[in-house]
Amino acid sequence: MLTPTQLTPTQLAEYRQRGFLVFERQFARSDLQPLRQAIAEVVDAFDIDAHRTVFTTDDQDRGRDEYFFASAEAVHCFLEADALDDSGRLHRPKHRAINKVGHALHDQIPAYTQFCRRPLFGQLLRDLGLQNPQLWQTMYIFKQPQIGGEVRWHQDASYLLTRPQAVVGMWLALEDATRENGCLWVHPGGHQSPLRERYEVDWDRGTATLRRLDDTPWPGFDQAVALEVPAGSLVVFHDHLPHYSAPNLSNASRHAFTMHAADASVTWCRENWLQRQRLGPFAL
Ligand code: FE2
Repeated sequence: MLTPTQLTPTQLAEYRQRGFLVFERQFARSDLQPLRQAIAEVVDAFDIDAHRTVFTTDDQDRGRDEYFFASAEAVHCFLEADALDDSGRLHRPKHRAINKVGHALHDQIPAYTQFCRRPLFGQLLRDLGLQNPQLWQTMYIFKQPQIGGEVRWHQDASYLLTRPQAVVGMWLALEDATRENGCLWVHPGGHQSPLRERYEVDWDRGTATLRRLDDTPWPGFDQAVALEVPAGSLVVFHDHLPHYSAPNLSNASRHAFTMHAADASVTWCRENWLQRQRLGPFAL
């Protein structure tokens, strides 16, 4: 538990050594309810016939479209690949078909704005060395029962490019996360390994490429640790920490909310898919 909001020297040392920290039951279910309620309203309003963009990570990120790029400054819904049949028709209720909602929930949805502005997050990031933390990206991840897709091994720094690389991720369990419903798996200490990939957009050419930077293999399963945590738990992690989550084949969903922040002093690279030209900085 993070109390009051200051990291102890032991926690700081653990973060430096392992690349992540887990705060079990940091939030009560009553804290999480407004987030769940607000996202249910987003899904209610979502016109599934207007936007059939699927989010999957097993295509080397080739399936990104205009709707995806525009989500940097909006609240857009992305479908699970397995929610559509061969002819592209949805074969399950809308609330059970969405993979994630992103990526500017903190700007566009009052319940998220309020939640992200809790002093705890800014203080935690300052403890980790971000003097003026700014929130760049927020996502609601559903990990739907039975069809919640795998998220392959990756490092978040591959998708959030700064110079120097210094993004911090915060992952909040909105429901119990278990091996069965697709909890996070991480490689403790793996944040010290090189960045393997870089997802780069060439805005002039209109192309996006996942470029291989380093041939270091992804961790073996003997190196991976499952972060099975109860609802309300917060995981904080370094942008080079390799992590992954298995498909959810169980009957339980595994909702999570993620935030990614960087210090105001770093350069946000032009090649980032995510640009906030219209919204500007969101200080924590
Ligand atoms: Fe990630």
